Amino acid sequence: MVCLGNICRSPLAEGILKSKVNSELVTVDSAGTSGWHIGNLPDPRSVEVAKLHGIDITDQKARAFTQEDFDRFDFIYAMDHSNYLNILKLARNKHDRTKVKMILNELEAGSDEEVPDPYYGGEQGFENVFQMLDASCAIIAKKITN
Ligand code: 4NP
Repeated sequence: MVCLGNICRSPLAEGILKSKVNSELVTVDSAGTSGWHIGNLPDPRSVEVAKLHGIDITDQKARAFTQEDFDRFDFIYAMDHSNYLNILKLARNKHDRTKVKMILNELEAGSDEEVPDPYYGGEQGFENVFQMLDASCAIIAKKITN
């Protein structure tokens, strides 16, 4: 799960997908395309909205996406177009590139919709992001556990 800062959207996506899969079988992680918040906890508004839905994301620390992530993961989900393009810039070959998806395309294939960046908005933006990610992660969880 990849966003810009790895403090708002992708930590939520990580927590939500983890809540839907068996952690002994599936490794879920998140990262940012920027290194601006490395080592930071998720944004308190993401922590709060996750908590409201029974998910604890306070064990997460922001990190930057690296080329090694292409070797560690089968699927790489970008939250928006900018993240998607920045991840692709690090891809070494076609195999790497085929792993990268826009997360909301799980809801509607080919729609290329973005998870809006809630960083500069209010609480409602975080609930909206939670709902989008919850719907996408339900589909992802079904796919990878079937
Ligand atoms: P995220 O949100 O990419 O969902 O973690 C942001 C976090 C921080 C900033 C922008 C977006 N920032 O400008 O520091």
